[in-house]
Amino acid sequence: MESKVVLITGGSSGIGKSIGIFLSSKGYKVYGTTRSLGKYPDFDHFSLLELDVSVPESISEAIQKLLEKEGRLDVLINNAGIGITGPIEETPHEEIQKAFNTNFHGPIHMMKAVLPAMRQQHSGLIINITSIAGYMGLPYRGIYSATKGALELVTEAMRMETKDFGVHITNLAPGDFATNIASGRYHAPVEPKSPYKVPYGNTLKMINDHVNDGKDPICVAEAVFAIIRTDRPKIHYKVGAFMQKFSLFLKKILPDKQYEKLLLNHYKL
Ligand SMILES: NC(=O)c1ccc[n+]([C@@H]2O[C@H](COP(=O)([O-])OP(=O)(O)OC[C@H]3O[C@@H](n4cnc5c(N)ncnc54)[C@H](OP(=O)(O)O)[C@@H]3O)[C@@H](O)[C@H]2O)c1
Repeated sequence: MESKVVLITGGSSGIGKSIGIFLSSKGYKVYGTTRSLGKYPDFDHFSLLELDVSVPESISEAIQKLLEKEGRLDVLINNAGIGITGPIEETPHEEIQKAFNTNFHGPIHMMKAVLPAMRQQHSGLIINITSIAGYMGLPYRGIYSATKGALELVTEAMRMETKDFGVHITNLAPGDFATNIASGRYHAPVEPKSPYKVPYGNTLKMINDHVNDGKDPICVAEAVFAIIRTDRPKIHYKVGAFMQKFSLFLKKILPDKQYEKLLLNHYKL
């Protein structure tokens, strides 16, 4: 059988790059994306297309190019994403919109763009890379949590809407993985006169340390590979350190306020 064609948004770095390299090594025909091809002149791990998930025209152009070349698309991995931290009160609204444009509206635009081809093929798989942070409102990461939680819900809804098309849609929520996400993230500045100065400053350090100490993103690539080879993907998958996954179990069984207390203790707030 011909090798499956896979498109990964945000294939130039971190988790997306790791997934792309891994799937290429398994014989898949991989296309990744970047907002700027010029930034990666020596990238030779797999093919790169230029695409900005927050610009719908660039999505249509890239999908058209890919379909003209390959005639099909078997797997879309909605991976492109950005971080955002800060007290919500002090986070500029344009940054909140930017986070939603990239992490929430972007993946929806991508799904709209690939569904007609997948419906015609009567086959296809879409994996939305969300986050364990999307299952709870984390302090000073509430907007990030909201973008990822919203994408989880949209995935649940779209699965039911598209169930007769032969297309499968699923979520994969990673915990912390060591990537460049912190450097590309919007950080609301820790303002010297802010009432949030101490708790936000301390939490921000902790958030960055967690990402730097995170696991190798190859674990996410392995999880994606396993999902691709499953006939009937589940609705939700999680990949990450045991405690991060266990915290979701605790959220299910503990009273809300007790869970909140756990989070406050964890972040020393
Ligand atoms: N690292 C973690 O701990 C972690 C945990 C949970 C979830 N995640 C999620 O995993 C995904 C990948 O993150 P990462 O950690 O690998 O981060 P990363 O190393 O910063 O990579 C982000 C990728 O997204 C692309 N990107 C950013 N904005 C884009 C846009 N508007 N349009 C198209 N592409 C865009 C970047 O490509 P260019 O800059 O080349 O355009 C880059 O390839 C994100 O959705 C993130 O939220 C990460």
